[in-house]
Amino acid sequence: MTREPITREPGAPGRRRIVVAITGASGAAYGVRAVEVLNGLPEVETHLIITAGARRTLAYETTTDAAAVGKLADVVHQEDDLAAPVSSGSFRTDGMLVIPCSIKTLSGVANCHDDNLVVRAADVTLKERRRLVLVVRETPLHLSHLRLMTEVTASGGIIVPPVPAFYHHPQTVDDIVNQTVGRVLDLFGLDTDAVQRWEGSQRAARGARARRGSGARAPEAGDAPAREQATPAGP
Ligand SMILES: Cc1cc2nc3c(=O)[nH]c(=O)nc-3n(C[C@H](O)[C@H](O)[C@H](O)COP(=O)(O)O)c2cc1C
Repeated sequence: MTREPITREPGAPGRRRIVVAITGASGAAYGVRAVEVLNGLPEVETHLIITAGARRTLAYETTTDAAAVGKLADVVHQEDDLAAPVSSGSFRTDGMLVIPCSIKTLSGVANCHDDNLVVRAADVTLKERRRLVLVVRETPLHLSHLRLMTEVTASGGIIVPPVPAFYHHPQTVDDIVNQTVGRVLDLFGLDTDAVQRWEGSQRAARGARARRGSGARAPEAGDAPAREQATPAGP
């Protein structure tokens, strides 16, 4: 049986719909990369919402802006458009990703305070028992932050703080961003090239030796932090 090629038209058969929201937590680069990776997957129809807070962090932290990121999505919705399709459970989606997710948006979701499209779409995602992933970025965390995360988890959401892994020996900020974005997209069953997967300690040791041989040394305990690769701290 021959399969129809997947067209990129919104609503075309065979495409999975993912809602992506970028909010004003530090780490706008995670949201940008997620949209870039999804743009490379023709089987995914991306619905994008960028908050006013995210427009600020995009300006402070990246060299891109909301207009450029929006061009990579299939459909862009405005934060205040509570009549957008993703505001209703009758509009079928395969889930929603908030990346990065601010504490304000986390609180909105935990308390069903649906006064903007990000929180409303997240609430809809939970009520329809679809996948909701919040990449909550804040540190340190006080008890109310932790309670909000517990609330969302109890309602079926998944909290994924963007905590870097080091087993894949990241050399650049890009490596760290890619790994987190790839692991987040794993949660939607989307296998991308972004992730470097753990394939056992022997293979990791071989990789580290090869890097040492090529002059690119894996970081070791006691190394000074690589200043030129450091991500700027958020407020
Ligand atoms: C540069 C910058 C970095 C910020 N970093 C964070 C952060 O890491 N986590 C957070 O919860 N809020 C952070 N904020 C504050 C949020 O932007 C603010 O609470 C905003 O109202 C969030 O709204 P939104 O969730 O609708 O985007 C930051 C603000 C700025 C300007």
